[in-house]
Amino acid sequence: MAKILQAIRGMNDILPGDIALWQGLEATVRAVLTAYGYREIRLPLLEKTELFARSIGEVTDIVEKEMYTFSDRNGDSLTLRPEGTAGCVRASIEHGLLHNQSQRLWYSGPMFRHERPQKGRYRQFHQIGAEVYGMTGPDIDAELICMTARFWKQLGIQDVVLQINSLGSSAARAVYREQLANYFKAHEDALDEDSRRRLYSNPLRILDTKNSAMQAIVAGAPLLGEFLDEESRLHFEHLQELLEAVGISYEVNPRLVRGLDYYCKTVFEWVTDRLGAQGTVCAGGRYDGLVEQLGGQAVPGVGFAMGMERLVAMLSESGYAGLDPCPHAYLVMVGEAAERCGRVLAERVRDQLPGLRLQVNCGGGSFKAQLKRADRSRARLALILGENEIQARQITVKPLRQDGEQISVSQDGLIGFLEVGLLSAP
Ligand code: HAM
Repeated sequence: MAKILQAIRGMNDILPGDIALWQGLEATVRAVLTAYGYREIRLPLLEKTELFARSIGEVTDIVEKEMYTFSDRNGDSLTLRPEGTAGCVRASIEHGLLHNQSQRLWYSGPMFRHERPQKGRYRQFHQIGAEVYGMTGPDIDAELICMTARFWKQLGIQDVVLQINSLGSSAARAVYREQLANYFKAHEDALDEDSRRRLYSNPLRILDTKNSAMQAIVAGAPLLGEFLDEESRLHFEHLQELLEAVGISYEVNPRLVRGLDYYCKTVFEWVTDRLGAQGTVCAGGRYDGLVEQLGGQAVPGVGFAMGMERLVAMLSESGYAGLDPCPHAYLVMVGEAAERCGRVLAERVRDQLPGLRLQVNCGGGSFKAQLKRADRSRARLALILGENEIQARQITVKPLRQDGEQISVSQDGLIGFLEVGLLSAP
């Protein structure tokens, strides 16, 4: 027997049984984004490697060790996108979306990182993200956060906590970086290998270490908040006022630095303790220098992305049903005349009721076998056409999911019956 091939480690199939959750989540998020005036942008999965090195940062985990990078047939170095912000900025510059105008955009799709797979951490995962260009004030930071809070509200997600911090301007961060490097140099013996390397390249990332042996050293390090420039401090204060005004609770986490280099000023994460180690379900912040860094004009940016697998896991635990994928009705046809008439009737019904989910039996079978399939499809009703129904120009309607007598409906009255009985029902 031929060997059965398996999917690549950390890259999951999303099976039909889980789709209701995914579609429910996606539909809710999309509706909220649209209601706030965000427009969708669709971006390629592959970009030039240079784009990520120049935006996410050469000395980040993502660029150093997690990217799926290869040479294509022309010898160009390409990378499967590890995140969406860089591609969104690239596309917005390339297509002139940033000339004298602001933009509120969103995107969704798979991202790729060669991380060690574990619960909530995969090598192919999905994000929905939003990016805003051309607005400097904290009002838009607050809007993005409000919008994420509304996702949770509409999805019934509780147990997520908002953490915020300010990384300040790049000048203020440079001063802080030096202070931090001096502090860690004084404790170099206690640093692990990764952190020792970062000491000279990117000392801020040491604060992000997951190494429990280093927590005490990290806890004693100077805080970024003490070095904030005046403009960033006011921006951060104003953001907090705006969040308080709309009743969004938050924690200021002075150690929140994020794993990508492009941020400045506001950064935020929504975290939960319900998912184990991978508890960040949504993360983002401001990146005012990135557009210019990638060759555009000096246009500020801010955004976030959420991890769909992590949200789906939370929704699934909370018993969220998602979009109902089951047919409203299943058409059973017994006999040649019923087969012929049934398919014509089904297409007529579909013309008139485009919202109806009607599954039509294929492959014949006895009445009993077809009824079994109808039941397995989880349809609410079986619509039955046999010899008797054909002669009487009727159709038998049998409830499958609840008690109730089966009834006969005239074929001409079927559309009205389904419209009232199925499509107007809650
Ligand atoms: P990030 O923090 O790298 O930020 O990822 C955002 C979210 O994607 C995480 O909070 C997490 O929920 C999810 N995620 C990340 N890696 C994985 C993984 N390996 N498996 C499953 N889920 C994962 C960004 O990507 C930025 N581009 C966000 C942003 C947009 N900042 C500004 N605009």
